[in-house]
Amino acid sequence: MKKISRLPLLLLLAGAAGLLSPARAEVVLADVFARQITSLNGQWHVIVDPYDTGYFDYRRQPYDASAKISGGFALDQHPKDKTELVEYDFDTSPTLNVPGDWNSQDRSLFYYEGSVWYRTKFDLAPEANLTASNAPALAPGRRLFVYFGAANYESDVYLNGQKLGKHLGGFTPFAYEITRLVQPQGNSLVVRVNNNRHAEAVPTVNTDWWNYGGITRDVLLVETPATFIANFRVRLKPGDTNIIEAQVQLDGPEQTPAVSVRFPSLNLAAEMVASNGVASGELAVTNLALWTPEHPVLNAVEIATPSEVLKDRVGFRTIATSGPDIRLNGRKVFLRGICIHEENPLRGGRAWSEDDARWLLGRARDLGCNFVRLAHYPHNEHMARLADEMGLLCWEEIPVYWTIQWTNAATRANARKQLADLIARDQNRASVVVWSVANETPVSDARTAFLKSLVDEARSLDGSRLISAAMEVRFETNAPLTKIVDDPFGEYTDLCSFNEYTGWYDGLPEKIDRIQWRIQYHKPVIISEFGADAQQGFHADATTRFSEEYQADVYRRTLPMLEKIAGFSGCTPWILCDFRSPRRLLPGVQDGWNLKGLIGHNGQKKPAFEVLKAYYATKAESSN
Ligand code: GCU
Repeated sequence: MKKISRLPLLLLLAGAAGLLSPARAEVVLADVFARQITSLNGQWHVIVDPYDTGYFDYRRQPYDASAKISGGFALDQHPKDKTELVEYDFDTSPTLNVPGDWNSQDRSLFYYEGSVWYRTKFDLAPEANLTASNAPALAPGRRLFVYFGAANYESDVYLNGQKLGKHLGGFTPFAYEITRLVQPQGNSLVVRVNNNRHAEAVPTVNTDWWNYGGITRDVLLVETPATFIANFRVRLKPGDTNIIEAQVQLDGPEQTPAVSVRFPSLNLAAEMVASNGVASGELAVTNLALWTPEHPVLNAVEIATPSEVLKDRVGFRTIATSGPDIRLNGRKVFLRGICIHEENPLRGGRAWSEDDARWLLGRARDLGCNFVRLAHYPHNEHMARLADEMGLLCWEEIPVYWTIQWTNAATRANARKQLADLIARDQNRASVVVWSVANETPVSDARTAFLKSLVDEARSLDGSRLISAAMEVRFETNAPLTKIVDDPFGEYTDLCSFNEYTGWYDGLPEKIDRIQWRIQYHKPVIISEFGADAQQGFHADATTRFSEEYQADVYRRTLPMLEKIAGFSGCTPWILCDFRSPRRLLPGVQDGWNLKGLIGHNGQKKPAFEVLKAYYATKAESSN
């Protein structure tokens, strides 16, 4: 049982009596690991509920349709005596690890798509227990939130039988205030997670990755003062590396407190006064050491109000394009990248921890990368934070993937929210240089309008990074060897990025040597995917599918072919590691794995790893 300290009795009694309508809006709590947190990670009791018995009554009406929940598992009930009928019991149900997808924890849930109910309990520890090292001291006027790093795909969250909210989207954080609902002992936190796929969802029903369900990232109690720092952004003022601009967003009753932004190691400080809950200011700086992959300089930053100090470490750099060049801090850069799915191939489940991030990014480092494409959805926060430290540039992406419902307003709102939540979470990460709004989406007017609205959203939220997507490539039947990139969406992006699979989905490797390109845009060209499947350890000649020799030959032929493209500024081959996919069914070969990894799902490197590593070594030399 987890213990945290007591709240003022008055608030608790009011909350327990349900007199206060519990907050329902999702709350922004950026930089969450720097806050006063209590982890709720661990073993949670779970109920696998394929018919959603715990959510709908027998007439298929949701129990939580009104503020007073009329039944179902959210109430976490137990029979009062032997006569009462209660047909579920969290206490005697099995458990799963949180964080963690359910698919890789329980063989019976490997393919499961539906609802799983999770329940954990925690106490507000009596004062006497305040000595506990991680128990936050909740004094009068303090506020309490429950924070989820992510849960896939649809989550309904309840505390002590009260609905906190419903979250859609499997890869971005969400939090709810529980200050007025939490009670001294025996708090019951119940979460329904449903990973059913829906045509109108983001992503939609068809993806080439495993539909891992569950509470897949950290769950934290977060304590704050009455008015707290919800988010902040510090960055070089666009166009002026001698000015750091700072913006601080507050949440709470005080709308005009004093706010300071300090960089102790730079001997810099700005004192501001908030207006309507937002404080903005500038700090003049000279000779600032800029963040680069070779020298990933991070500076301590302290955001302070009279009741709180929030600390982080941030790097400063500029990223821009100049015709066909990408310029990092004004210098032309070639992006030596690799694509990564959020999966630990050794475990075969969703990656979520700092250790997982260190293993994946460590392998990219081994390749000689200075860039990673975190495909096809927002990865956990540890990835960009660790990339900041390791000096790896990042392409981050939302799962607007393949055949999204372009004309559905709710789908567009969902995609925009996932993009806004990703930007809010990672906007201070120097490593993040690209926001990607889509992958391989079929060209149509509706699709281009949908994507353009995402570009507008990204630029309005953060004009300091490059915007891109994996666009479409085509060819004309009378000239099959000339690949054409004239996707109309390319008008709106900073990069001309696209996936190309000549030699795997289009012909054999020898065809690669004969390919020509016709690219409509005078912009930096990033090949956001190329590759081939190989079963690690399977050897044959270079025309035998799934052999390591075939994959290595595709890499040997593709890299020089790409060099012929004007504006070729980098690539992120598909992909660092084999990953699970329900689409890959060749028995004895794929068995539910996409084998395009340069590292097999047994952790062993394939020869193509060395081919790419050798190529990147030449590119690194030429950039010095
Ligand atoms: C596509 C897609 C990937 C997919 C890959 C493949 O380009 O973007 O998500 O896994 O090709 O077919 O292996």
